[in-house]
Amino acid sequence: MISWTLGAAMRRSRRSPMDASSFRVGMITDSFKAPLPYNPGRHRASSEALSRRGWFRLVRIGVKKLAPEEARADLLAIGLHTDGQPPEALAATAEPALSGGDFAGKSGQTALLYTGDTITSPRLLLVGLGERSSFSPEKLRRAAATISRRARTLEAGSVAFSLPELADVDAGTAARAAAEGASLGLYRFGRYKTGDKSSGGGPEDFDLLIGGSGVEETASRGAEIGAKVASGAALARDLANEPSNTATPEYLAERAEEIGARYGMAVTVLDRAGIKEEGLTGLSTVGRSSSNEPRFIVLEHRKGGGDKPVVIVGKAVTFDSGGISIKPTAGMDDMKFDMGGGAAVLGAMEAVGALDLPLDVVAIVPATENLPGGDAFKPGDVLTMPNGKTVEILTTDAEGRLILADALCYARRYEPAAVVDCATLTGACVVALGAHASGLMGNDEDLIAEVQAAGDTTGERAWPLPLFDEYTEQIKGDTADLKNSGGRGGGALTAGAFLKEFAEFPWAHLDIAGTAYGKKGNAYTTKGATGTPARLLVEFLIGRSA
Ligand code: BES
Ligand code: MN
Ligand code: ZN
Repeated sequence: MISWTLGAAMRRSRRSPMDASSFRVGMITDSFKAPLPYNPGRHRASSEALSRRGWFRLVRIGVKKLAPEEARADLLAIGLHTDGQPPEALAATAEPALSGGDFAGKSGQTALLYTGDTITSPRLLLVGLGERSSFSPEKLRRAAATISRRARTLEAGSVAFSLPELADVDAGTAARAAAEGASLGLYRFGRYKTGDKSSGGGPEDFDLLIGGSGVEETASRGAEIGAKVASGAALARDLANEPSNTATPEYLAERAEEIGARYGMAVTVLDRAGIKEEGLTGLSTVGRSSSNEPRFIVLEHRKGGGDKPVVIVGKAVTFDSGGISIKPTAGMDDMKFDMGGGAAVLGAMEAVGALDLPLDVVAIVPATENLPGGDAFKPGDVLTMPNGKTVEILTTDAEGRLILADALCYARRYEPAAVVDCATLTGACVVALGAHASGLMGNDEDLIAEVQAAGDTTGERAWPLPLFDEYTEQIKGDTADLKNSGGRGGGALTAGAFLKEFAEFPWAHLDIAGTAYGKKGNAYTTKGATGTPARLLVEFLIGRSA
C-alpha cells in the first residue's frame, strides 16, 4: 500500500528505531524520530534555530492563590472594567491615572504605573476589560495577550495577572482563556529574519492570581489546557507561515510523523505511488505536475476505547498557483497559506496528544502543490473519484474540493461518528464573511451547531451558510456527474455542495479562506497565519470526549 522512495528508505536506515512501537506493523514510514528538539539529525534545523521558533518556547503559566499586592513579579497586572475600582492596596498607585482620566477601563486600554515601595512588585499594569456586561472569555484572552506583550517590551521576566471574574463562567474556563491569550500573544514567526530576535523573547513565568477558595485546582487545570491548546495553535501558525519552498507536502508529513511519535499515534503517509494505488484521484491529479510530490497524511489517536472515531480533515495545498487556470500575480504569494486547514488539523492533533484526550480521533491531511506543467490536469478533463462519481474540471483552480473529496471518501472506512473538514476553499467566502468568521456548512444540523458553539467558546467564530438543493443543481455537470465549479454566484456554497456529494456521514465543513491568515493581527494574532481553526477543533474534540 505504501511505497517510499529510495531516498526515504536510506534516510530511515540511519535512524535508530526508538519510537517504532507507535507505528503500524508493516507500514514503512519515515517516522523513526525522537521528538523535537532532541534529535538534531539530517533535515533538522539546529536546536538553536528551532528554539527561535515561537511554538516551542512558550511562557510557563501557573496559578497562585494570592492577592495581587502579595505577588512578587516584575510586572503585576490587574484588569479593570469601565466601572471598576482597583483593590484597596493598589488604590493609591492607581489613583492618579484613574482620576486624571488617563485610564477609563476601556477594552484594550492600558496604563503602566510604578509602585515605589508600596508593594513587592515594582510595576503595575492596569488593563481595560471594557463594560462589565459585555465581558467574555475572548476579551479576557485579549487582555492576557496585551499583558504578555507588554511584559516582553518591558523585558519583564515574570508576570502576575489577577484573574478577572467572569459572570456564568467557571475559573477553569477563565484560566484557560487567559493562558491561551498570554501564550499566543507572544507568538512571532521570525526565523527568517537574520540577526533579529523577533522570535521568542518575553516573560518566562506568567502566574494567574486567584482569590476565591476551592477553585485553585480547576484554575490550574484550565491554565494547563490553555497552554497546551496554545502550543497546538502556535504549531498550526508555524506550519502555515512557513513558505512553500520549505513547507512541502513531504515536510508536513514529517511534522505529522513527529506528532505521532511524540504521542503514540499511528501514522500513515502515502506518497505519489501510494496515493495512486489507493485510488485517490483528486490528490494524484492535482499533484501530478509538481516535482515536490504530494502526500496523503493520516494520524490516528486511539484513546477512546473503540467508539466510532471523530475525523478531522484539512486541506493542505502548500502552494496554489491555480494550475493551468493560473491566478493573477497580485497576492499570489498568499497562496502559501493554502495549507492552513492542514496546518490547523496538525496543530489540533498536537494538542489532542498533549492533552491525551480520551477519544478516538483520526486526522486526514491531503497535501499537494497546485502548479501548471507539461503533465498538469486541464480544464475539460474528467476525473472518476474514489466513490465512483465523475467530475468535469472547469477550472484547475478549484483544486481544494478535489483533494478534500478524496479525504472524505477515505474517511468512510472509519465509519466516523462525525467528520469536520476545514479548508481555505473559496475567495467567495472571504467576500461573504471577511476575516471575522469562517463559513460553516454541513449535512447535520446538530453537528453544525456543535461546531459553531466550539467556535464561540474559542473566539474562532464560524457562521452557518446554507446548502440548499439549488446549490447542488448549480454543480451538476454537462459531461460528467459534477463539475468542479458552480460559477461566481454562491461560490462558497457550491463548493460546500460539491463536498456534500462525498460525505456519507454526519459532516461539517469550515471555509477558512478569510480566517486562516490575515493582513493585520489583533491582540493575540500577528500578521500572517492565525492558526484558525486549530483551537475550535480541539474544543470540539474536548466536547466529544466528555
Ligand atoms: N485557495 C483558493 C481559495 C482562496 C482564495 C483562499 C483566496 C484564500 C484566499 C481556492 O483553491 C480557489 O482558487 N478557489 C477558487 C474557486 C473557483 C475557481 C471556483 C476561487 O475561490 O476563486
Ligand atoms: Mn485554487
Ligand atoms: Zn486552493
